[in-house]
Amino acid sequence: MKKKVVTIIGARPQIIKSSAINRAIREKFADQLEEIIVHTGQHYDENMSNVFFGEMNIAAPNYNLAIGSGSHGVQTADMLKGIEEILIKENPDALLVYGDTNSTLAGATAASKMGIPVIHVEAGLRSYNKAMPEEINRVVCDHLSTLLFSPTDSGVENLVKEGFDAEAKMPFTADNPKVFKCGDVMYDNSMYFAELAKEKATVLKEHNLVPGTFVLCTIHRPSNTDSPERLTAIFEALLEVAHHGKEVVLPLHPRTRKMLATSLRPDVLEEVENTDTLKIIDPVSFFNITALEQNCLFVITDSGGLQKEAFFFNKPCVVLRKETEWVEIVENGNAVLADADPKKIKEAAFRFMEGVDMEFPSFYGDGHAAEFICKEIIALN
Ligand code: UD1
Repeated sequence: MKKKVVTIIGARPQIIKSSAINRAIREKFADQLEEIIVHTGQHYDENMSNVFFGEMNIAAPNYNLAIGSGSHGVQTADMLKGIEEILIKENPDALLVYGDTNSTLAGATAASKMGIPVIHVEAGLRSYNKAMPEEINRVVCDHLSTLLFSPTDSGVENLVKEGFDAEAKMPFTADNPKVFKCGDVMYDNSMYFAELAKEKATVLKEHNLVPGTFVLCTIHRPSNTDSPERLTAIFEALLEVAHHGKEVVLPLHPRTRKMLATSLRPDVLEEVENTDTLKIIDPVSFFNITALEQNCLFVITDSGGLQKEAFFFNKPCVVLRKETEWVEIVENGNAVLADADPKKIKEAAFRFMEGVDMEFPSFYGDGHAAEFICKEIIALN
């Protein structure tokens, strides 16, 4: 009999991640797995949501809760209510969630209260910083899950430290959960779409970008966007990079776009507006961000996803955070934790500008994480 899995997505990176498993189910496991997709509507702008479904050929969601933005409590509570109603109606064999957003938390909480096994993809990652909403979401989700799929060895080690039994035997339940190291579904996607991105991406032409000459930057973490001091410090450093002959391209998250006018120191805002080599553009599609990653010199970001995608395409990365969940990249020297410290950002950026010789080992699997996950879901008890 086919197993029915309800998948919860909501924020941009989850829509992107879901494409790997959705594709694996359609191409290889359609006779064994049925996927019901629930979009919470956490992200709703065309370029934060819809664009990815078309481009990455993801099945249209069966449900869209259209929750939108709100405080953490309101947003999560509305999702919880909506997801519970769907779970009652669909009565699935399992619920699948990705990563660490409020959509992840709501899905895991609703299902576990109903005795529906939770499958967590991207389990075990930790920043050990509970000031991040994502850290709270991922810790709670992991501890409610039955199948935990960690992309990395360090993720598995974190779970073992928290009491998970790496040798757990079937039958698996929320009280006897199973931890797997399976590689990264984002690596699956980046490899799968790499060639297509070269053909289809329009962003380089649209913005007159010359391959190998520009720096790709993204900023969206509330710890950076919501602190005028930190946001100003980061932009001061970016301006220096932009004034030293390297164009900086910033596809800007709507959160950050809104904060620029209110949070940047006025003189810095004025300089940002008048510096042609600091190009602020709208959020871009997956093909376009992939093309930017493939063709940039290096990346400056506070995004977890972009840190890793830089690594997939052999690009060094300056991380605008104090800590990271992707510790192997930092330990291997491919990324530098610069926080919002202009000196550290500039030091790393100018070093990477010179060109660096470094190894990019295969920390994130073989590009078949999604198939591994599907097989384990099918085998679940
Ligand atoms: C969320 C996730 C974060 C993830 C990020 C990816 C949580 C707690 N955070 O952060 O882990 O890295 O998604 O992008 O779940 N907005 C729009 N249009 C949209 C979406 C958001 O304008 O389509 C604006 C709204 O002003 C909103 C703000 O962005 O209030 C923040 O959106 P929200 O979903 O709450 O968090 P993100 O910062 O996107």
